[in-house]
Amino acid sequence: MTRSSERNRERARRGLISFEDVFGSADHVSVVRAPGRVNLIGDHTDYNDGFVLPMTIDRCAYVAARARRDDEVVLYSTHFREEVRYPLPGMPETRAGSWTSYACGVIEELRLAGALTSGVDMVVDGDIPLGAGLSSSAALNVGVAHALDVVFDLELDPVETARLCRTVEHRYARLACGIMDPFVSRLGRAGAALLLDCRSLEYEHIPFAPSAAHLSVVIVDSRVSRALASSRYGDRREECRRAVADVRTAMPDVQSLRDVTPDMLAACRPAMDDRIYRRARHVLDENARVRKAADALRDRRFVQFGALMNASHASLRDLFEVSSPELDTLVTAAQQTEGVLGARMTGGGFGGCTVNLVRTPSVEALKESLRASYRKAYGRSPDFYLVERNDQTETLIDGRS
Ligand code: GLA
Repeated sequence: MTRSSERNRERARRGLISFEDVFGSADHVSVVRAPGRVNLIGDHTDYNDGFVLPMTIDRCAYVAARARRDDEVVLYSTHFREEVRYPLPGMPETRAGSWTSYACGVIEELRLAGALTSGVDMVVDGDIPLGAGLSSSAALNVGVAHALDVVFDLELDPVETARLCRTVEHRYARLACGIMDPFVSRLGRAGAALLLDCRSLEYEHIPFAPSAAHLSVVIVDSRVSRALASSRYGDRREECRRAVADVRTAMPDVQSLRDVTPDMLAACRPAMDDRIYRRARHVLDENARVRKAADALRDRRFVQFGALMNASHASLRDLFEVSSPELDTLVTAAQQTEGVLGARMTGGGFGGCTVNLVRTPSVEALKESLRASYRKAYGRSPDFYLVERNDQTETLIDGRS
């Protein structure tokens, strides 16, 4: 048995045991998982109709579920040791951003779509660090949606599932995020990064097996929670809207920053506030970098890929201004370490994680150097997650059979 199928069995077994602990029996229970993600390049482009290049990671949300004979919904989180119970139709009041706002939000959206034929018993679990910017919430949404898909035999379209999960973030968690996180959690594939055009939702799986090239993807967690960053995320979205409005005064056909070329932006610059210009500039350049990075990945030109990651960080720091002193410390120290091809902040920013593409023999040296620099500057160590493989949304046990 391979290590990964062993791990799947162990996880599936854990899912069943937790379910049995909560509900007394685990007969006919289905268990699914949905992975978190790390974005290799392309940040703050998704909500500007641009390009992103994330990959899933080997940390996941796990959901065990079974249909009920009545209209009750009973949900249990092993992490929070919390149960919610309510009758359909409707859903309880939830705190925006809480695990219940996600789980109940997905159930409610599917109910409104006419997809649920009864209530459900469900246990959610997972090993994605919360609030670290690795999309634990998108994975939870996708995991709950996929579990209901299996339990009620819905045959949901994966792209529609990703859209539904984004709607849940907007409506129930009140976070105006883009499509990247649920999309890659649902459609990302093991052994590949995912190039996504966030306007057309066309996508391509680009084979990426770092270990075959003696490379490692190392995620470094600054341990500065992203939870408080949502208002600044909203500010950036607003600034991008302003940039579009500014360009439109001269060029009315422009719908989003995706329609703006560097020449058009240069022409509008004199009439733009410098801050708004810099935000737009980042988005245009970052889109170009993602496309180059995708080409580099296809051709296995990893040194060039790393250089693009470095350039992306500089732009997020200087033009888009979503980095933080902690992230900059981690990125600078990584970029100065022998064997590191590229390092950048990843995700929304203002905290969370960096992503590093490293020659495998240099991984220990990288960890040492980051521990030392971080301890010197902030008196503590960052956390490290080595992406050993990347998982995909999967049914581990189909309880209907
Ligand atoms: C967060 C959001 C994503 C995306 C990134 C920045 O992770 O959830 O939709 O906007 O920030 O690239």
